[in-house]
Amino acid sequence: ERQKRIRNFSIIAHIDHGKSTLADRILESTSALTKREMKEQTLDAMDLERERGITIKLNSVQLKHTHTDGEEYIFHLIDTPGHVDFSYEVSRSLAACEGALLIVDAAQGIEAQTLANVYLALDNDLEIIPVINKIDLPSAEPERVKQEIEDVIGLDASEAVHASAKSGIGIEEILSQIVEKVPAPEGDPEKPLQALIFDSLYDTYRGVISYIRVVEGTIRPGQKIKMMATGKEFEVSEVGVFTPKPIACDELTVGDVGFVTAAVKNVGDSRVGDTITDAERPAEMQLEGYKKMNPMVFCGLYPVDANDYNPLRDALERLELNDSSLQYEAETSQALGFGFRAGFLGLLHMEIVQERIEREYGIDLITTAPSVIYNVYLTDETMISIDNPANFPNPQKVDYVEEPFVKATVMVPNDYVGAVMDLCQKKRGEFIDMKYMDANRVNIVYNIPLTEIVYDFFDQLKSSTKGYASFDYEMIGFRQSSLVKMDILLNGETVDALSIIVHRDFAYERGKAITDKLKDLIPRQQFEVPIQASIGQKIIARQTIKAMRKNVLSKCYGGDISRKRKLLDKQKEGKKRMKSVGKVDVPQEAFMSVLKMD
Ligand code: GTP
Repeated sequence: ERQKRIRNFSIIAHIDHGKSTLADRILESTSALTKREMKEQTLDAMDLERERGITIKLNSVQLKHTHTDGEEYIFHLIDTPGHVDFSYEVSRSLAACEGALLIVDAAQGIEAQTLANVYLALDNDLEIIPVINKIDLPSAEPERVKQEIEDVIGLDASEAVHASAKSGIGIEEILSQIVEKVPAPEGDPEKPLQALIFDSLYDTYRGVISYIRVVEGTIRPGQKIKMMATGKEFEVSEVGVFTPKPIACDELTVGDVGFVTAAVKNVGDSRVGDTITDAERPAEMQLEGYKKMNPMVFCGLYPVDANDYNPLRDALERLELNDSSLQYEAETSQALGFGFRAGFLGLLHMEIVQERIEREYGIDLITTAPSVIYNVYLTDETMISIDNPANFPNPQKVDYVEEPFVKATVMVPNDYVGAVMDLCQKKRGEFIDMKYMDANRVNIVYNIPLTEIVYDFFDQLKSSTKGYASFDYEMIGFRQSSLVKMDILLNGETVDALSIIVHRDFAYERGKAITDKLKDLIPRQQFEVPIQASIGQKIIARQTIKAMRKNVLSKCYGGDISRKRKLLDKQKEGKKRMKSVGKVDVPQEAFMSVLKMD
């Protein structure tokens, strides 16, 4: 019977260990695509992903594979995003599978995201098939990596496939282990419908396309369905599978992975993790683990050109249709004018959204430094959540403040243990654990305030370990901290977009670093500009930008007009990313200056 021949699986790996390359090989050898149709790294749909080489949006492909027993099996390969910002989406797409290929680079061994992804897979009770990739490399040490998988993860790696996704070694063995080791889906096609939404995207013509895994029951066009978390009801217009081209079919039943459209106008109505059921014969319970994702990192988005305000709002609206974890609201800044405060799952998510606005919608943005969310407990015993430092209440009214903490896992060669611990300590980290994974590599765990991660943790980690460290983090909740608001004044005026929340012990150091940095970044003006950092009324650091000496145009006095034009144009170009704050022209980099400390 068909259900017994279905295999649903994902590929999990640390970044660059070869996930996309292996997926391509699997697509090729199951002839889902002819060679001519194959584009490199087919599963990564968006340009941006391709350029950055990271997978953000999930995809699923149906493949046919004839096993050595002569039977034809139906594979659904479900792609997962690799980055920590999207760990909830990773977890939901893993929940749509019974098995996972665990790719480990034969030269590098287990890295931080290998481990994070393995834990998510184990949480979802998946059968894990270890694959040691890149065995073609001269530096490959498959036996050492096998041992590491056994010691660190506790998986039996004796049958781990030795593979090279690049040269096509081991692919048949992988396909045959999928058939033999990954269990067929369980469930009953006659039961009330339960289908897990593990991704969704917005299409102008069809509305929201939800990617689903049917767990119980059957779904067909014309059926009335209900989203269990939101209670919203719709009528199914179409169901189908990706091969990877979308192909409509009559029904999706137990174990099937595919898509459903139902004239849903907003991805918020079809959220990742929600369960679709039959409106007339609903299931008793949602599938496990639906949670609404709350953004953790916030920043201000302002158009450089005030005329771009409406186009910016339109762009955010469109992006929100495809991304239910993106949040935004209108905001006004004295310094930057009309704009938006937007909330993101993490730093990468933020960068991607900013880049898409600039690239796909052609809007030049001024972005303010990212901030986390703070719980501020007031003396009148109420609590407010602050996502914009500029809105931090008057210190007299504040009883205490809580900030979000993460559990950070760093994996690093022996030699860099000291450097990593110094960095974590400097970032107000609390030491939790340190374990040797083998003779050479160490797994270090710290609890660190999220705001310190946002302040250039990645960059510093990279430079202090020559790029050898891998890093991952997860939210662990809010904790009380001694935090104050620091304002920056330009020419005597507070620039709200430059205010930050900082730990009291770091205030002087950071105040000095920021004023120094701004002095370098802000061009000379016609007059002298003082830059000050203050906490409340107290100035804690100061710098001065000297007045401009020469007028650029005086050079071409009487000179030919085209040269003058050119010079003016050049100035205009240079001004593109400037924002006038009071009388001072401030470049975009200045608003991010609070981030980079060196
Ligand atoms: P992300 O999408 O960034 O998570 O990376 P990924 O895990 O999908 O890795 P990807 O497939 O993009 O491979 C990363 C790099 O490793 C690319 O330069 C590949 O060409 C290379 N690579 C992948 N598999 C092999 C292999 O078997 N041998 C060798 N030598 N290189 C490989």
